[in-house]
Amino acid sequence: MNDAPFNALRNEVVACERCPLAETRTHAVFGEGPERTPVVLVGEAPGAKEDESGRPFVGLSGRLLGELLEEAGLPREKLFITNTVKCRPPENRLPSKAETAACRPFLAAQLRHIRPRLVITAGNAPTRALLGTKEGITTLRGRLHTCVWEGMELSVLPLFHPSYLLRNRGRAEGSPIMLTLADIREALRLAREFTPGF
Ligand code: URA
Repeated sequence: MNDAPFNALRNEVVACERCPLAETRTHAVFGEGPERTPVVLVGEAPGAKEDESGRPFVGLSGRLLGELLEEAGLPREKLFITNTVKCRPPENRLPSKAETAACRPFLAAQLRHIRPRLVITAGNAPTRALLGTKEGITTLRGRLHTCVWEGMELSVLPLFHPSYLLRNRGRAEGSPIMLTLADIREALRLAREFTPGF
């Protein structure tokens, strides 16, 4: 695979001024991880720590997500991790429809380049953006959904958003954390089924 187009895309994202989030961000967060991976994880948008560092999922909720991925046997280093929207919305508000639409070509270009066999979505925003569903994450999580998005056939497995897990840290049977661990194990099982040797 030729890396140049991905680097060009990265340069485009970090310099992007397609929407007003460019005025308030410190860093646009392109994403990180191997380009040659069968699994991409898509979150919502960078928060304060991500904006500060330019890296995805490095704040408190990101750290929790990393711990759960590790515990379930799918360490974050094996995935490409990015967000639906690459710049932090002020006060961590939800990205607007216009902001999500402005950033859509970047996520589409990333997925077109990596061609993942499985996309894990964290929370409602990326799940709705890809699947076009109205149902909430509680209904959709933990199951494989397929869609055609920007001309690509995607297999999507939604998880609870880690900021929800931060507020619900109990590990009783059936708790959001335990469900998420089971969902990540299912994602790993599917990834190995789709890509033997992963
Ligand atoms: N950090 C990210 O990079 N994305 C999220 O969705 C939440 C925290």
